[in-house]
Amino acid sequence: MIKLGVNIDHIATLRQARGENFPSPLKAVSICEKAGANSITIHLREDRRHIQDRDVFEIKENIRTKLNFEMAACDEIVNIALKLQPYSVCIVPEKRQEITTEGGLDVIGQKSYLQEVVKKLQNKGIIVSMFIDAQEKQIQACADIKANAIEIHTGKYANLFKTSKEKAQEELAKIKESALLAKQNNLIFNAGHGLDYNNVLNICEIKNINELNIGFSIIAQAVFDGLEKAVMDMKKILSQY
Ligand code: PXP
Repeated sequence: MIKLGVNIDHIATLRQARGENFPSPLKAVSICEKAGANSITIHLREDRRHIQDRDVFEIKENIRTKLNFEMAACDEIVNIALKLQPYSVCIVPEKRQEITTEGGLDVIGQKSYLQEVVKKLQNKGIIVSMFIDAQEKQIQACADIKANAIEIHTGKYANLFKTSKEKAQEELAKIKESALLAKQNNLIFNAGHGLDYNNVLNICEIKNINELNIGFSIIAQAVFDGLEKAVMDMKKILSQY
């Protein structure tokens, strides 16, 4: 069975937009776990636009499944990860202006630095994954630096799925090939980004997937699954006056 990791950054985005202390990412963790999530992903960005330092430690204290800590490979965040000791870390590229993580990490371009980071994290018993595009040379570089896992960026596939089924199939073929290469290199194979209730079906057909990390589509779906009750609850209060 393919595992589901739920990314709850989007709960924190909502909270930060209003500068409130709700909705609480910690509360989201327990709801996701109750619903069967196998792990929870949080991304502590350098600009702290959604998840905050206090969330990270609070969630680590209370999580019952596995904490997957998404992070840029910069000294400040690496030091936090070493202190936090999550179950796993997913190293991602980070640009200040981006809306979300656009494109995979260039492992080849910073191989020796990343090798050091991987080693430091693994010495603390943390499983290290690299968020990369479906490219053979990047997968090879991940194996070279002895990462434990790769997470393939499915954003390109998800975008093409909306516009050209044919091109989406081409991208899907690359992801399938990556799964095979991961297996040959003893790398755990995960995938994620932009996956939703429709485009995930093709991805699920791929053999050797350990886990899919999905955030936005689940949180967006939750809004409409919950909106009716939320309005009814308020209406019930007002109707007594
Ligand atoms: N995996 C990684 C490494 C990501 O950066 C993200 C987005 O934060 C996701 C998975 C989840 O993507 P989405 O929110 O589009 O489902």
